[in-house]
Amino acid sequence: MGLIQKFFFKTLGDHRGSLVSIESEQNVPFGLRRVFYIFATQEGVVRGLHAHRRLRQVAVCLSGSCRFILDDGKKREEVVLDKPSEGLLIDRMVWNEMHDFTPGCVLLVLADDHYDESEYIRDYGCFLKAVENAA
Ligand code: TYD
Repeated sequence: MGLIQKFFFKTLGDHRGSLVSIESEQNVPFGLRRVFYIFATQEGVVRGLHAHRRLRQVAVCLSGSCRFILDDGKKREEVVLDKPSEGLLIDRMVWNEMHDFTPGCVLLVLADDHYDESEYIRDYGCFLKAVENAA
């Protein structure tokens, strides 16, 4: 199965504009415990560069665009996020990188747990070892 799994949120709207509603365990596949967003990213910056042992996340680019690289240790795929009605699943044990943020890009991330630095893998070599050990 491919690594790029997107969710297409229903856009509610009328002549005034658009609205997307994301509900825990409804249009995302897990319960939500944390929301964070990335903004004012400087030109040329690469973010992410880590995997999570347990955490599951969905990323939504609310404004502008950025390019994601997802890597499960066997294959590497990339996708551009540029629609506020689309979510990208960042599953547990998937290395993720974010590149090419446009000026003014706002990236929303929905997560199924609180912040816990101890479940991050921030070294790519350690990530590959963890993937091997889990096989
Ligand atoms: P970092 O993981 O480096 O961001 P990214 O992966 O997007 O490049 O996070 C930046 C800092 O913010 C780092 O010190 C950890 C902290 N942080 C929190 O305290 N809570 C959070 O929910 C997140 C995502 C990060």
